Order: sequence, then C-alpha cells, then structure tokens
Amino acid sequence: MNLVTETYNRLVIKITNLNKWFGENKVLSDINLKLSEDENLVILGRSGVGKSVLIKCIVGLEKAEEGRIEVFGNDIQQMGEFALNKLRKNIGFLFQGGALYDSMTVEENLLFPLKRNAPDLNEKDKNELVEDVLDSVGLLDAKLKMPSELSGGMKKRAGLARTLVLKPKIILYDEPTTGLDPFTAQGISELIIKVKKRYNTTSILVTHDMKCARTTADRMIIMDEGKIIARGNYKELQKIDNEIINGFFR
Ligand SMILES: Nc1ncnc2c1ncn2[C@@H]1O[C@H](COP(=O)(O)OP(=O)(O)O)[C@@H](O)[C@H]1O
Ligand SMILES: [Mg+2]
Repeated sequence: MNLVTETYNRLVIKITNLNKWFGENKVLSDINLKLSEDENLVILGRSGVGKSVLIKCIVGLEKAEEGRIEVFGNDIQQMGEFALNKLRKNIGFLFQGGALYDSMTVEENLLFPLKRNAPDLNEKDKNELVEDVLDSVGLLDAKLKMPSELSGGMKKRAGLARTLVLKPKIILYDEPTTGLDPFTAQGISELIIKVKKRYNTTSILVTHDMKCARTTADRMIIMDEGKIIARGNYKELQKIDNEIINGFFR
C-alpha cells in the first residue's frame, strides 16, 4: 500500500464535517480540522467535551457516523482492519494511562513492539535503537527497571519511548501531563518538543493543562461540547472574550 497519495501534499490529517453520536448523545459536532507536516496541534478543552473521542476517530478506534477523516490522503473511515493496521504503524498513540507491560523491564517493553513490527531488524540494531530512544527520553539508567519501580513522570517517558521505537510519523498524546506534579509535567512538555525536533513528528496533543499547551503548541483549537469553539495561537486565544476560553487563561 502506498501510504502517501498524491493529494496529500504536506497535509497529514484532514477532517471534514465530522459528526459523531453515542446513542442520543452528540459528542462531535461539525469538526473541521487540518494538520500539516511537522505541526504540533494542541486540542484544549474541559473534561467530557469529546477530545479523546476525536483522536480515537483519527486512528479508527471509533467510527463517526458522518464526515470524512483523511490521514496521509487515505479516507480512514472507508478502510478495512488490515489497511487500518498498516496505517496505524505510522501513528503513535499515547493513551492517558501509558499502559506499560508490568511484567517486563523498561527495555523489554521497548523490544516487544519491535519484535512484531520490525522483524527485519537484527538483535544488535534493535538493542541500539532501544538504547538511543531511551537516551533521548532520559531513561537510559532505568532500562532494567520494572514499571512498578518508576515514578509517574518516568512511566510517561517510557510510554513515549515505546511509541518512538516504531518511528511514527504522527504521535497522538492524550493528556500527557495529567496526574503529574507541575515540575514533572513541565519536563514532559519539554520532552514533547525535543521529540518533535529530533524525530520530525507531527503531533496532536489533547490536554486541559494550559501550561503544557503553551509550551508545546504551534497552534491550538479549543473544544467545548463536541464543537471547535476557537482556533489560534496562545496570544490570539488570550484576546477572545468568552467565559469558557477565559477560564483556561486564568
Ligand atoms: N464508548 C463510549 N460510549 C458512550 N459514550 C462515550 C464513550 N466514550 C465517550 N463517551 C462520551 O462522549 C463524550 C466525550 O468523551 P471524551 O472524548 O472521552 O471526553 P474528553 O474531552 O474528556 O476526552 C462524553 O460525554 C463521554 O461520556
Ligand atoms: Mg479524554
């Protein structure tokens, strides 16, 4: 499968008129969104406004009833599981929990996805790649530790490292700083910037942490009740007079 179709043209994700319901509950309402290569887009919004559902739609984990989602020019809502799985190899998805395998060391957690997704790499290449990625997230010293021995921030770093070994073109972060103290949270935000520069990833970051948004965003959208209510950079959004938006800047 050719991932990059001719119309893709540096546009990595294009969402058009997306509407999604859970039963009677409309959770996404007329979402239109474009994301260019190398961009870091932050989706800011209160709890329950549809942020996670939106990024799950982008990887085909949820399906929307109406609208179109193109990823690298492929209409993902029309793709079967086989094609979707192939596309997903280019997309790193960091869920809220991080989800490391508890019975494996940090190193084994990184080697595990490589076994399945990079069978052509020999042992030496795999080990070098794992060391390199662990080094870039600042976890080289923790490679033989078990997840239970890691702090919250280290777990997030390990989760990110596990995504990075597969060299994703897009990374979707769902609330990467939630549950961390402000100092650790800032470290994760800075790591996200570093990763973007080093690996040239395009990313979408969902958060309600304004400090994280400010640190990481090239561009932001604000969602409320399933809708995009504002778009812009930090300074532009700061000027808008709206109760919900103002709430994030207080
Ligand atoms: N699997 C599901 N089944 C039914 N309702 C869901 C499901 N997942 C999410 N929702 C509802 O969709 C809305 C948006 O949820 P979500 O995207 O998780 O919010 P958040 O912005 O906090 O990430 C909420 O009202 C939530 O209850
Ligand atoms: Mg969520």
